[in-house]
Amino acid sequence: MAFALGPRAQTAGIRLTAFETIGSTNAEALARVRAGERGPLWLATTHQSAGRGRRTRAWVSPPGNLAASIIQTIKAPPAVVATLGFAAGLALDSTLREIAGEGAASFALKWPNDVLADGKKIAGILIETETTPEGLAVVVGIGVNVVAAPDGMPYPVTSLAACGITASAEDVFAALSDAWLEFVTLWDDGRGFQQIRRLWLARAAGLGKPMAVRSGSVTLQGTFETLDEEGRLVLAEDGGRRMTVAAGEVHFGAAMSAGAA
Ligand code: BTN
Repeated sequence: MAFALGPRAQTAGIRLTAFETIGSTNAEALARVRAGERGPLWLATTHQSAGRGRRTRAWVSPPGNLAASIIQTIKAPPAVVATLGFAAGLALDSTLREIAGEGAASFALKWPNDVLADGKKIAGILIETETTPEGLAVVVGIGVNVVAAPDGMPYPVTSLAACGITASAEDVFAALSDAWLEFVTLWDDGRGFQQIRRLWLARAAGLGKPMAVRSGSVTLQGTFETLDEEGRLVLAEDGGRRMTVAAGEVHFGAAMSAGAA
C-alpha cells in the first residue's frame, strides 16, 4: 500500500514524499531545509536504516513500522517551539486512539514526548530545528511501532500489533497527517499552548503519582504535579518543595529506581 495524506491534510495543501527506505526522515528533512525547503512537507517511510531518537540515541524501527517527519516553518521564538512537542504528542495519541478503536489499549502521554500503550512506549517524537531567513524551520519526527517493537530496549516497549490492533503504517500515517493539522492549528505558533497544555494534562501518564526524573547527572524524585506554562514538568518533593524540569527522562513505579541509578 502507498502512503497518502488524510483528506484534511490534502485539502490544506500539505505535501508528501514517501520513501521505500531511507537513513532517517529527520536527517533528510533537515538536509532539505538547508537546500531551501520550508514545508509544510511530510517525509514518510516504513524502513529507516539510521533512525535517530532523543538524547542522541538511535531509533530502531523494524520494517513495517512508521517513520515520518514534517517540516514546518514557525513564526515563534525558539523557546516556544519546544511546546510544539506537546501538540505533536496529542496528534499522535489521537491518531492511535482512532486507529485502535474503543478498549483495544489504554493510551497515555508521557512527558515530554512519548506515547504509551498499556504503560509501554509505542511511539516517540524527535524535534530538530534549523534557523532560516523565513523563521525557524522545525522538523517534527515521529516513530510509531506498528508491526513490532525493537528488542533489548532499557524500558518496556510495545507495538500496535502486540496490542492486537491491525493497522498498517500507511493507515497510521493518513490519520496522523490529519490529526497533526488539527493540533498544529490549535497550537497556533505557540499562542494556543495553554489549551494544548490542558488537553495534554488530561491524557498524561502518572499525573499525581510518584516519579523520578533524570536530568543530566541529577535525579529528582517527587509527585508529578503539573506542567507549567512553558511545558516544564512540575514535581512536588515530599517536603512540599516544587521543582521544575525543562528536559529529562521520566521513570514511574518500579522503574523509578532505574532512573535513580
Ligand atoms: C525518541 O527517542 O523517542 C524519539 C524517536 C523519534 C523517531 C522518529 S522516526 C521518524 C524520525 N526520523 C528519525 O530519524 N527519528 C524520528
